Amino acid sequence: MTSLHTGLAAIVTGGNSGIGRATAARLIHEGAQVLIVDVQPEPSWHAEHLQYLQADVAADGSPAKILACAIDHFGQLDFLINNAGMVGGSEVETMADDAWDRILDVNLKAVFRISRAAIPYLKHSTRGRIVNIGSIMSNLAGPGMGAYTTSKHAVAGLTKTLALELGTFGITANYILPGAIVTGITGPAIAADPGFTDFWSKKSAIGRLGQPEDIANAINFLLTAEAAFITAHGLAVDGGVMVNP
Ligand SMILES: NC(=O)c1ccc[n+]([C@@H]2O[C@H](COP(=O)([O-])OP(=O)(O)OC[C@H]3O[C@@H](n4cnc5c(N)ncnc54)[C@H](O)[C@@H]3O)[C@@H](O)[C@H]2O)c1
Repeated sequence: MTSLHTGLAAIVTGGNSGIGRATAARLIHEGAQVLIVDVQPEPSWHAEHLQYLQADVAADGSPAKILACAIDHFGQLDFLINNAGMVGGSEVETMADDAWDRILDVNLKAVFRISRAAIPYLKHSTRGRIVNIGSIMSNLAGPGMGAYTTSKHAVAGLTKTLALELGTFGITANYILPGAIVTGITGPAIAADPGFTDFWSKKSAIGRLGQPEDIANAINFLLTAEAAFITAHGLAVDGGVMVNP
């Protein structure tokens, strides 16, 4: 039986947890082969058609290593999901240079460098797709979140540029704006502060936090043949929180 992505190959960064893991699992379910790249030393899960590479996406040699690993295993690349990301930092007045640099390196520069390394392979694909994970902070801002907000706004700009540069090769580039999703990033806040879940659930039109699968479903759609004319788009998967000030 053929599935949606039979015969196609994907890289998912940050695929050991949360949104990346749910996405990788969904793509495998739909017939793709998937390389997950994560900074954690060991894979947190195993599956047929899943390869694991331990790497820091922001390290200098990582883009070449990641692409070499994918091509060695699959012989092709069709989907690039730039998902690995981190939060942190402080208010601008007290922000240290190295904290700023690290967040920008992981959330933005790695997206640029891995995309650049992937483009020659995506150009050979019959269904080239780039999906970058932004945030509602690609549109909004919050005190104490300057580095994260800047990185996620820039992911939007980079994605639109990729879409314009690659469209004639049949490659689409889109970004997702997740709302508050139950993952490793939000886990500590959810555990420490009952008000977190309450606040974001009430802000959502759907009345709950998002689950990683809510994001994986949207990414999966953008990877299908049916989404071939959707590009340069920022897709909010936030339960409606952004329109509820
Ligand atoms: N969870 C949310 O509410 C939310 C909201 C908006 C955007 N996002 C974005 O979603 C993406 C995925 O995060 P998540 O929420 O699933 O969190 P998560 O912590 O569950 O997963 C992130 C994964 O990325 C990996 N990672 C982090 N830094 C890395 C690096 N330098 N190199 C390689 N791997 C690295 C982690 O080890 C982890 O496995 C991030 O880009 C995040 O900014 C999350």
